[in-house]
Amino acid sequence: MLTERHLQLMDGCGAQFVYIRKDGHSDYQGYILKRLENAALSRKIPLEDKIRLVYDAAEYVIRKASSDRPAESDIFLARQVIDSAALILTTQELSVENLCSFFSRDYQLSSHSVQVAMLGMSFCRHLNWERSAIADWGLGALLHDVGKGPLEDRMLVERFRLTVEEFEVMKKHTLVGQERLRGVGKLSVEQMSIILSHHESMDGSGYPEGLQGHGIHEFARIARIVDHYDTLVTKRPHKQALNPEQALRAMRKEAGSSFDEQILSSFMGFMGFGEAMNDKINGNRINIELGSELLVELVDGGIRFKSTLVGMKSGEYLIVRSPEAQQVRNQIYEGSKIIARCVHSGNIYGFRSKILCNVVHPAVRLLVLEYPRRVESVNIRKNPRVDCHLPAEIADHEQPVACVIADISLGGCKLLVKPSGIDDTFKPGVDRRIALQAPLLSIEGDERLTGVIRNIRADGDMIVLGVSFVELSENITGGLSRFIDSMLALLPLHLSRA
Ligand SMILES: [Fe+2]
Repeated sequence: MLTERHLQLMDGCGAQFVYIRKDGHSDYQGYILKRLENAALSRKIPLEDKIRLVYDAAEYVIRKASSDRPAESDIFLARQVIDSAALILTTQELSVENLCSFFSRDYQLSSHSVQVAMLGMSFCRHLNWERSAIADWGLGALLHDVGKGPLEDRMLVERFRLTVEEFEVMKKHTLVGQERLRGVGKLSVEQMSIILSHHESMDGSGYPEGLQGHGIHEFARIARIVDHYDTLVTKRPHKQALNPEQALRAMRKEAGSSFDEQILSSFMGFMGFGEAMNDKINGNRINIELGSELLVELVDGGIRFKSTLVGMKSGEYLIVRSPEAQQVRNQIYEGSKIIARCVHSGNIYGFRSKILCNVVHPAVRLLVLEYPRRVESVNIRKNPRVDCHLPAEIADHEQPVACVIADISLGGCKLLVKPSGIDDTFKPGVDRRIALQAPLLSIEGDERLTGVIRNIRADGDMIVLGVSFVELSENITGGLSRFIDSMLALLPLHLSRA
């Protein structure tokens, strides 16, 4: 037993660290848990140390609750830890950057659960919730993946390489969690909604019940966002971690479909990316990222050239680079009308403008354009797939099967396979999950496209597989978008010349 006397002796020796034997870890955690509330209130303990104590204690508690059937005592301890966390987060000023600096970037079930709870509680404080409501939410969030306890470690970390069967088992963790916690620890209906419904989507495409919109409890809608965010910013063996901005950009694409639009918008503001995310052309506003490539066409003369957006003043002007070729530059005059187009993240944007000023200097040649009054955009996700002929391999079994991607979109692709290339180890069937490798899609790393076969038909001497993509990472989606954008850049301008 560690006493005051021991502490004085250690202080006298100038001891900086205390090492605890592995078999004494549970005693140590018991000691910490009993004193956690005092530590949270203490003025002597630095804020960073308090966060570390709460983080470690919460990880210890959630490991205990996930490794076996959670007992009353586990939930009691979890509640104590969360109450202390709520006390710290509501009485001390802690920036979200500072909080996240304690977080692990490698995915583990325990650290993920703690991070979702702590980040989400901090977000609830940002929403001006009462401390008791913050703690209520936090306990549900800490326990949200308790149903994953029985799953093998491999299934937890290799989420993007699961077979269809394994994925179906994994999806049951919400029901398993609910079952394990039923009647244990007096969890409220709201807290249970996090455990059961944190994978439900606003458009009804989530699981386990396919709930929609506000049919999903607010607690669960918040958990859906924080849970997904932490998943994106943590690393797994075959998935790189995204930085916060990349993660939020990816999530914004699913605002209204997967995530509650309003809560996501508040969350982005809380994370410090509220305004910075406003980077798309929107209605009569244009806020393309600087550095974006534009295709510019002179209305009189039909000359086209590639350019780059290098500056702008919202509502007043845009600055773009002049064309490289002297011959083209000779045909540009102040007052010339232009049509410009830009392909960005699966959308084509176009606007009409005129050249206000032609800046000619030996070191720099720029055009100043009138700020456009109206911007047209086309979401190519609603458009047909892009035809292509990309060599690929179905590569998730012993002998890879050579195939060709005949068309592709962000949602799926058409695969052509020669029957002679299929051996006994690969049996194509509807609903079979496959992993594809396609080197020409410029996807970074060795990540594979994962999809599910939706239909199979014979076409001449080929087998045609219709594949829907599933669980695509940001890296893959980025590679696909770049490929589709490059194909679309070959399409003619569609803006009217009137
Ligand atoms: Fe989950």
